[in-house]
Amino acid sequence: MNNFSFQNPTRLVFGKGQIAQLSQLIPTDKKVMVTYGGGSVKRNGVYEQVIDALKDQHCVEFWGIEPNPTIETLRKAIDLGKEKKVDYLLAVGGGSVLDGTKLIAAGILYNGDAWEIVQKGYTTRQLPFASVMTLPATGSEMNSGAVISRAEMHEKYAFYGNYPQFSILDPEVTYSLPKHQIAAGLADIFVHVLEQYMTTPGQSRIMDRWAEGILLTVLEIAPLIKENQHDYAVMSDFMLSATLALNDFIRMGVTQDWATHMIGHELTALHGITHGESLAMVLGGTWRVLKEQKRAKLIQYADRVLHIISGSDDERVEAAIAQTEGFFRSLDLAIRLSEKGIGEKTINQIADKFNRLGSKFGENQNVTGDVVRQILMTVK
Ligand code: NZQ
Ligand code: ZN
Repeated sequence: MNNFSFQNPTRLVFGKGQIAQLSQLIPTDKKVMVTYGGGSVKRNGVYEQVIDALKDQHCVEFWGIEPNPTIETLRKAIDLGKEKKVDYLLAVGGGSVLDGTKLIAAGILYNGDAWEIVQKGYTTRQLPFASVMTLPATGSEMNSGAVISRAEMHEKYAFYGNYPQFSILDPEVTYSLPKHQIAAGLADIFVHVLEQYMTTPGQSRIMDRWAEGILLTVLEIAPLIKENQHDYAVMSDFMLSATLALNDFIRMGVTQDWATHMIGHELTALHGITHGESLAMVLGGTWRVLKEQKRAKLIQYADRVLHIISGSDDERVEAAIAQTEGFFRSLDLAIRLSEKGIGEKTINQIADKFNRLGSKFGENQNVTGDVVRQILMTVK
């Protein structure tokens, strides 16, 4: 196991009716900017619960943070926050609202254009922020990352900063999620775990078993959610799986990949593909092209997660990749670029960009633009 330093300060407040806790969690002397997306919270009762809990708090609202939040929208929120002198932020929505809010929290304290923070990749100064998370997927509710898009340039990059002070997770708010968002969320969770797991075996038993536990849970709950997305126990496991998949817990002392995410972000930036679905389309390609370096771990995954125990090593690896794509397919997600009308023009555009930037992704830093081209050609 490699050396590591771990600290995750986010307080999780989990369960039915817990949005009411907001009044206890935010100091009463704070001027709060409450941020929202496009209005789902008004249709599912979340907005009323938030307003009720914050009735004695001085609040400013900002609406309209879109999926794959853009700097163009966030600049408006930053201006409003500066004008109203807010000193606390509460994101109410999915990962996009929270990611956008993480940038607003930094932008209000920054004198230049907030896109510079995204370009730098990190910030050390943010107003305190927290969330009511309504979509299990990104893990943003308990991590320090945020992914921001610049629509005019078709760019999408991550930056890192502080963790939310607290996040409220009420599984009942997921009952109103559209089927496609549930599918994309499940794929996102699954691939988050795999980005931190599918490297080489023998680094840490505890990290491997923990990651495999989340993968097995996601495989088990996916069909149950399809059957009934109002099952509180099942949706509770869905929500907690998302948080545990990307809150630093399963990455202690082990190497990580993240190439699939880097490529997926480009597909979203260029074609607006939902984040989780972009990963479903790329992952099989990443594994096929990097099969040799990931072989031993693919076999472990085939055995312990998919229970593929017969056949030669090669056959088990192939079966593991095919079954993983089959899982995404069972969620009604695309697994080939052509299903979304994406062809060689986009593949070359992405590969050329990574070559130009000298990008090197993956646990061995060997996924260059040319390797990305091979990966995308594999899933054309
Ligand atoms: O905008 P509203 O009207 O609220 O509707 C949203 C949105 O249209 C809707 N929604 C959310 N909760 C709902 C609901 N509809 C009904 N009922 C509910 N309870 O769902 C739509 C999608 O929301 P979005 O926030 O975009 O989804 P998600 O949470 O998957 O976030 C995706 C973004 O997070 C980034 C992605 O790249 C993408 O930009 N990621 C963030 C990460 C992080 N911070 O660590 C890591 C991830 O790998 C990912 O890159
Ligand atoms: Zn993701």
